[in-house]
Amino acid sequence: MDLKSQIDIDKLPNHIAVIMDGNGRWAKAHNKPRVFGHKNGVVAVREVTEGCAELGVKYLTLYAFSTENWNRPFLEVSALMKLLVETTRKELKTLTKNNIRLQAVGDLSKLPDSTHKALLEAIEATKNNTRMTLVLALNYSAKWEILEAARTLAAKAKRDLIEPSDINEEMFDNALSTRGIPHPELLIRTSGEQRISNFLLWQIAYAELYFTPIFWPEFNKDRLYEAIIDYQNRERRFGKTSEQLV
Ligand code: IPE
Ligand code: IPE
Ligand code: MG
Repeated sequence: MDLKSQIDIDKLPNHIAVIMDGNGRWAKAHNKPRVFGHKNGVVAVREVTEGCAELGVKYLTLYAFSTENWNRPFLEVSALMKLLVETTRKELKTLTKNNIRLQAVGDLSKLPDSTHKALLEAIEATKNNTRMTLVLALNYSAKWEILEAARTLAAKAKRDLIEPSDINEEMFDNALSTRGIPHPELLIRTSGEQRISNFLLWQIAYAELYFTPIFWPEFNKDRLYEAIIDYQNRERRFGKTSEQLV
């Protein structure tokens, strides 16, 4: 039986988040510069986006650039920003054709103007699409996002718009840059690293974590199906006992 037909469509994760890692090491293994890895990473982005949309996954969040990634060599950062503009422009047609809405989370105002502009244009052009939402985490840091939320709520309390005791999970959720996006049930990280690297700390409180040694440029639909099948074979207990779940 092929991998896709092993997936239980009634038990799909509603939201899959991915830490796309290993572009540089993949390029190195092919004796190529790191940017070659990032370019080939775009192929995997296309595969996973299409794979999720075809299955009926409603949200896909891809970690594309962290606030820590600014510390990389200047040439790599510029190449990544340029690749983002080119890819956003080029993929806009495909997003539209496939009825996919684009969103972004992170501190977008700090991105270069051309990257920011291309992104906002694509977000605006796809805002009414309904099949799936593709969320790009760009200049994203979970700690930054949580601090921003704390600042927003503290400012409201200071102006007597809310009471500190009113602050609950829902209110906090709505103060995050991911407001309106349900929490991911499945988090995938490629390249063998087993860490979160400042991604969606609040939102993955109960996500299933899936680590694969595959470098991101080699990730494809079959590897996505494997991750989903693995997820579907887990027992999500949310603090209860196995017996309580039946
Ligand atoms: C992930 O691949 C892409 C980004 C972080 C932008 P890396 O560039 O981190 O590749 P490795 O981890 O160095 O192999
Ligand atoms: C995490 O990957 C960030 C993205 C995938 C965009 P990194 O390669 O930057 O993470 P570390 O440095 O291994 O933690
Ligand atoms: Mg990396």
